[in-house]
Amino acid sequence: MKRSVLVAAGLLPAILLALSLTLPVAGLASTRTGEATETPDSLPNFPGRDETFGYCIGCHSFQVVGRQGMSRERWDETLSWMTTRHSMPAPNAAMRKVLLDYLTVAYPEQRGSARGWVNPFAPK
Ligand code: HEC
Repeated sequence: MKRSVLVAAGLLPAILLALSLTLPVAGLASTRTGEATETPDSLPNFPGRDETFGYCIGCHSFQVVGRQGMSRERWDETLSWMTTRHSMPAPNAAMRKVLLDYLTVAYPEQRGSARGWVNPFAPK
């Protein structure tokens, strides 16, 4: 009895050490895989794709953007909303045009037929 308690007490630090080594590594690995799958190449290929990806990806996944299909006016409002509510750096006029041109053709209001791209993460 006394002996098994001593053995258990001796093992405890080893178990804790093993846990503290493996847990953070597993956490990092899963975050990295998620990010690695998202590149401009996974977006519909239209002019302005790389600029738009670069502009929006700083704060959230592009899946947040790609879920939406909107008119140019609504995309314009979204850019203003990102700027005022979420402190996105305001795009200058030229950049705003690039972003709107891209968003409007890549994620138009009428969903489905106009979109040549299928979200690979959508539930099947
Ligand atoms: C500075 C940070 C930041 C940047 C840059 C940014 N966003 Fe966002 N965006 C956010 C935050 C925060 C949310 C979550 C808002 C919420 O609570 O619904 C969000 C949410 C969204 C949504 C989701 C709205 C919904 O109803 O689900 C869309 C669409 C969107 N952003 C578009 C864009 C586009 C397009 C760009 C690039 C031009 C962009 N964002 C860049 C901060 C940012």
